[in-house]
Amino acid sequence: MLPKVYVTRKVPPDGLDILRKSGQVQFEMWDSDDPVPRVELLKKVKGCDGILCVLTEKIDAQLLDAAGPNLKVLSTMSVGFDHLSLDELKKRGIRVGYTPDVLTDAVAELTVALLLATSRRLIEATHEAKTGGWGTWRTLWLCGHELANSTVGILGLGRIGVAIAERLKPFKVKKFIYTDVEPRPELAKMIEAEYVSLDELAKQSDFLAICCALTPETHGICNWNLFSKMKKNAIFINTSRGGVVNQEDLYEALSTGLIAGAGLDVTTPEPLPTHHPLFTLKNCVILPHIASASYTTRNAMSALAANNLLAGLRGEPMPKELKL
Ligand code: GLV
Ligand code: GLV
Repeated sequence: MLPKVYVTRKVPPDGLDILRKSGQVQFEMWDSDDPVPRVELLKKVKGCDGILCVLTEKIDAQLLDAAGPNLKVLSTMSVGFDHLSLDELKKRGIRVGYTPDVLTDAVAELTVALLLATSRRLIEATHEAKTGGWGTWRTLWLCGHELANSTVGILGLGRIGVAIAERLKPFKVKKFIYTDVEPRPELAKMIEAEYVSLDELAKQSDFLAICCALTPETHGICNWNLFSKMKKNAIFINTSRGGVVNQEDLYEALSTGLIAGAGLDVTTPEPLPTHHPLFTLKNCVILPHIASASYTTRNAMSALAANNLLAGLRGEPMPKELKL
């Protein structure tokens, strides 16, 4: 009998084609854009050899117990893995695939777009133009902050941080600085970035981009302590995970003018309730977690997730396997 696989969400065509044409698995898919209800998911994974999931599914002890002892492979269509209980997966000897690299360009591109939208106040500006606020051309109206001659800080220097810096460099950024748990000399060299402490990163950055994974160490790392050291003109950009930010502290920092603006592609929770105080702030641009959302990239992510799954089920090395 072919290995049994459950796919927790409607997968983009490239990934779906690979699963269909492989002839290697019998799979069932939750054929919807909305998440599968948890009770349904717990039923569907029973007896599966593999699961292909997305980042809204919590893969924890309860789910792994529901799946049972046949489960050998978990493939997530995401680069982030904070929705997975890695200890529980490791304990059970389940191999894990994820999708780094293929989304780097799309995420870097969106991060630059969000940064510029925030620093040059594009969302406010289109709103003014549309709703009658555009009375005349005014000298300091809708002024923002420019990248030329600025210092850009990166919290968590990986592939994505480097790709962001490469794209920002032509905007005449003066200096790149970064912090991480330890220096990353090879990556830093590519963008001539200087390693500094978290304190210095906060103090020196005109633009601060958050590019780290969400882990117990980075949870809430962007808090009052950090914001209070930042420049008044600073723009804070987060395209990693909402959990790295203390949102109450960010709200205070934005509403009291401690920092100039924030662009967030990720929040806690997701979706952020429409009545959330952050939505009342003109200097906060909020996007619904779309950093990797290009047709090319989402298809590539689905193909990689499918190939990880199939390789794992064959007992071969996965194209991109998470080391547990
Ligand atoms: C998106 O947030 C991802 O982790 O791929
Ligand atoms: C702006 O449009 C200018 O002419 O300075």
